[in-house]
Amino acid sequence: MKIAVIHGPNLRSLGKREPEVYGTDTLEDINDHLQKMANELGVEITVFQSNHEGELIDYIERMAPEVEGFLINPGAYTHTSIALRDAFVGVERSFVEVHLSNTTARERFRRHSYLAPVAAGMVYGFGLHSYLLGLQGLVAKLQQ
Ligand code: DQA
Repeated sequence: MKIAVIHGPNLRSLGKREPEVYGTDTLEDINDHLQKMANELGVEITVFQSNHEGELIDYIERMAPEVEGFLINPGAYTHTSIALRDAFVGVERSFVEVHLSNTTARERFRRHSYLAPVAAGMVYGFGLHSYLLGLQGLVAKLQQ
C-alpha cells in the first residue's frame, strides 16, 4: 500500500516557526518519524511540501492513480481552499487531515475546515503525533 504525505504552506519552517504553537520538531523530524511508522505498518510513503495551492492540487491529481490514500496537513489552506477539497473529491481517494495545533482552540477563523467534511478522519493538537496517529488511522481504514 502506498500513501502520499502532503505538507502545505509554511510547514517547511517548522522548528523555528512559532515554536510555542507548533513545537520544535522540524519537517525533517516529522518525515523521519513517519517513515519509521510506515516501515512498522508495512506501507510505502512518498512526501511532498509546497507553499502553493495549485502545486498541491497538481500533486494530488498526479499521485492519485499511484496511491491508496493521502495524509495531509493543509496548513492555512484548510480554512480557505474549496479548490483543495474539490481536488480530493475529484480523485476519489481517502485522505486524513492532520494539524499540529488544536485549531479549534485558536482564532475563530481556524475553527472551520473546508476539507473536514470530505475527509476520512482528522487528528489535531498532538504535534508530530497528529501525523503518526493520522497515518495509523488511514492505513487501518484502507485495510478494512
Ligand atoms: C496548522 C494550523 C493552521 O491553522 C495553520 O495555518 C498552519 C498549521 C497546524 O498544523 O496546526 O499553518 O495546519
